[in-house]
Amino acid sequence: DKGEYRHYMLKEIYEQPKVLRNTLQGRISKTQVLEEAFGAEAKAIFDQVESVQIVACGTSYHSGLVAKYWMEDWAGIPCYVEVASEFRYRKVVVPKNSLFVTISQSGETADTLAALRSAKEAGYLASLTICNVANSSLARESDLSFMTLAGPEIGVASTKAFTTQLVALQLLSIALGRRHNLSSDKEQALVSALHQLPQLCEDVLALDDTILHTSEAFSEKHHSLFLGRGVQYPVAMEGALKLKEISYIHAEAYPAGELKHGPLALVDSDMPIVAVAPNDDLLEKLKSNLQEVQARGGKLFVFADKNSGFVNDESTVVINLPHVDDSIAPLVYTLPLQLLSYHVAVLKGTDVDQPRNLAKSVTVE
Ligand code: M6R
Repeated sequence: DKGEYRHYMLKEIYEQPKVLRNTLQGRISKTQVLEEAFGAEAKAIFDQVESVQIVACGTSYHSGLVAKYWMEDWAGIPCYVEVASEFRYRKVVVPKNSLFVTISQSGETADTLAALRSAKEAGYLASLTICNVANSSLARESDLSFMTLAGPEIGVASTKAFTTQLVALQLLSIALGRRHNLSSDKEQALVSALHQLPQLCEDVLALDDTILHTSEAFSEKHHSLFLGRGVQYPVAMEGALKLKEISYIHAEAYPAGELKHGPLALVDSDMPIVAVAPNDDLLEKLKSNLQEVQARGGKLFVFADKNSGFVNDESTVVINLPHVDDSIAPLVYTLPLQLLSYHVAVLKGTDVDQPRNLAKSVTVE
């Protein structure tokens, strides 16, 4: 039931504060991750993990790409991420004591399931799925599972599944991190940021009117570029996927530092450019990349920390977000990008919940 909402997608975007709370409930204490959430056997397995291989498709793949930054930064262990349709057909060299992780909303994606089955033969230490459907094939066939508690996701465009996956991946990075580089002070800081996350998501959803207004600039366009750096690069990829999937506008994500290696040639006054710009270590680098875009007449739409120092002018629209801890920025910055593609699609009159040519669950190859 869509309730007061015009589409399931909008309802599911707005549910995020609640389902993030649900996904965290009982999985963290005030200061720590409660790793029993990964299953009774998790402890003995986690004690042995020395690296992680993540495999998924689409939006779930993007959450894996974000997690790589956390796993390597916080836990200090190598993390590899690949789309399932490539992984399953490749000869894989399996490192010693590597944990095989699948991520999936449905738990039924054919390529992800086939990748899990091939991983079993390949010699991984154990398998873990981060999944939103308890009785799914992935949950049944994996050694360990962590359920995201997003509730049923009806819109084909994945929204709340993605952000709850990110929470799950933070908990996993912390649980593994404890056994490696992560101090208990750092764990406490990360957990305390997670406690603030649902409220910050509420605050960002309150920007909906501003984002609606911004979406008007996109509805007549045919192409767009999404830019981010570091952990925000996969967030930009997810923003671009959302826009192309439901509005049918060609959207491509680039790590901003790659602009001058090719895509800058595409930039002109007809090309909207979305930038994800929290106030992090890479902000100054991103800013100089964005100046190159402006110099070519590109119109910028910057989702920025209110302290990032961007100003509105003829070439730049700034959407200011609250200041958030670096650790949760990828989650918080995802929400306005979801809203942007939603509003553009509504303006274009597409079938938002059932975009053409796509199915919610891809159970065939
Ligand atoms: O159910 P899964 O998470 O395994 O699905 C994977 C992709 O098919 C899915 O995320 C798809 O990319 C979404 N429609 C994107 O919004």
